[in-house]
Amino acid sequence: MTHSVDADSLRAGARYWNRTGVRSRFFDALSLLLPAGEAFFIDTVETWRARSDLSSNQALDTEIDRFIREETAHLQAHRRYNASLAADLPTVGAVAQRAGRVTDDLAKLSAPMQLALVAAFEHLTTVLAEEISSHAYLIVDDESRPSRLWRWHAREELGHRDVAMDTAVHAGIGRGSLVLALLLTTAYLTTDVLRYTYALCRCDIRSGASRTRALVDAARFAVGAVPSLLRMTRGWCRYLVAPIR
Ligand SMILES: [Fe+2]
Ligand SMILES: [Fe+2]
Repeated sequence: MTHSVDADSLRAGARYWNRTGVRSRFFDALSLLLPAGEAFFIDTVETWRARSDLSSNQALDTEIDRFIREETAHLQAHRRYNASLAADLPTVGAVAQRAGRVTDDLAKLSAPMQLALVAAFEHLTTVLAEEISSHAYLIVDDESRPSRLWRWHAREELGHRDVAMDTAVHAGIGRGSLVLALLLTTAYLTTDVLRYTYALCRCDIRSGASRTRALVDAARFAVGAVPSLLRMTRGWCRYLVAPIR
């Protein structure tokens, strides 16, 4: 059974909920990007379902229902998380507004490429969710509200991990487009999360946080995350060798 996270429980309370400032801001940055990203996923999959004949694939139709229901819940939960972040760090407003427009350029791409991108983003999400669910380095394993949200989100991502890819395969998207999409989404997501993490850390520094402490935190996080990155790289490569279903 799925347990969602209620609105009040998302008030982060402590500014640095994930052990250190930079590690907290890394996931806060990802949260800022998620409502726009998940709205894009939902719209894209819904559009393809409306165009497709799924009468011979009732299971996929049902899985798409689940996908849309769960991504909608994630989107709403991260909006509340982000509102809590903005209440905690008022200078974040402009950064959050920019984050809300990160998928605008994707809407200009062809419909098949948009669906390929969603399948690829969902693979990246799965790889991160596997890491969060099996190791406690990236997200602190405690009962703080943000860490509970991330673990809940990770569990649901693992539950619907194949839906976007199954939809893409049903729509006839070829391996070339899917691989290109993985390369693009990896570059896009990595760049954006790092840019927005930097922007949030700058907000903290303008609010009085120590620049030196932030640099030390960032260096420690980067070094400590190497085992996680290696495991996630193995998961990332799975996409390249998996047969198209
Ligand atoms: Fe999600
Ligand atoms: Fe998802």
